[in-house]
Amino acid sequence: MTAEEYKRMIDAALGESFRGAKGMSFEGLAEAMRYSLLAGGKRIRPMLLLEFCRICGGDVEAALPVACGIEMLHTYSLIHDDLPCMDNDTLRRGRPTNHVVFGECVATLAGDALQAEAFASILRADLPAGRRAECAEALADAAGIDGMCGGQYLDMLGEGKTLTEEELTDINSRKTGALLIAACRMGVAAGGGSEAQKEAAMQYGAAIGAAFQLRDDMLDVIGTEQELGKPIGSDAEEKKNTYMAIYGAERCAQMIEKLTTRAKDVLRDVFADTAFLCALADSLAVRTN
Ligand code: IPE
Ligand code: IPE
Ligand code: MG
Ligand code: MG
Ligand code: MG
Repeated sequence: MTAEEYKRMIDAALGESFRGAKGMSFEGLAEAMRYSLLAGGKRIRPMLLLEFCRICGGDVEAALPVACGIEMLHTYSLIHDDLPCMDNDTLRRGRPTNHVVFGECVATLAGDALQAEAFASILRADLPAGRRAECAEALADAAGIDGMCGGQYLDMLGEGKTLTEEELTDINSRKTGALLIAACRMGVAAGGGSEAQKEAAMQYGAAIGAAFQLRDDMLDVIGTEQELGKPIGSDAEEKKNTYMAIYGAERCAQMIEKLTTRAKDVLRDVFADTAFLCALADSLAVRTN
């Protein structure tokens, strides 16, 4: 499948989410959830998940609710990341942020509910129970205290301070890397892949994850709001520690290139068909949104 085909498939499935809330007393909360979930987004995490599932010989259709689950969790992290008490941003996915439209209270609850619904979607997938459980556990680990939330906590603590390269790498590997690694791992789990495939998938995820945040930090400086769909200069405004601030664009680009090469290398001996994942890693290295 091409990236466009995956994206269409994922967008169509996500579009069905929470429609049952229509006419219910809590319809407004569903509206806020759908507002951010269906605002677009590159759908990188669900795409990775489905492709790893496919190259492990799994059933992509059956894994679709798992893929939707990780995108729901990611969307929750974005809604909360934008809140005034966090990065205080007003534009996301080309639209006013959730709290700007619905207010802070509803935005907080929309994120909370998306997190719970993420696990519900995974656990209801038509996959063997063991595979569903492994996917749910992988996502819980990635999102929790030593994963994304831990990373967001450290990111916040680091504002205005000078961090070491090691500390910065640790933050990035948690706040962004963890979910991307989980996407790859969950894909192998959903597809019934081997332990060796899981290990390689996670190493690929770690490499593209590190490159992904580097590129995100670069785009916060050299990108355009129009293309990015989110504000430029948010990191400087919040006094964030980024590789971009420490090393500048050229060194960041070199690091991204190295990480992308590593990502492609780790797949080689373990999977038969890596064309899509190699092309995806290459395209993420030079993305403009
Ligand atoms: C943005 O993630 C937040 C980071 C982890 C850097 P994406 O760049 O994947 O955002 P969407 O999903 O395409 O909006
Ligand atoms: C946040 O990183 C990663 C998340 C866990 C959401 P950023 O704060 O740099 O993400 P953007 O730039 O707002 O998308
Ligand atoms: Mg942030
Ligand atoms: Mg942010
Ligand atoms: Mg950013």
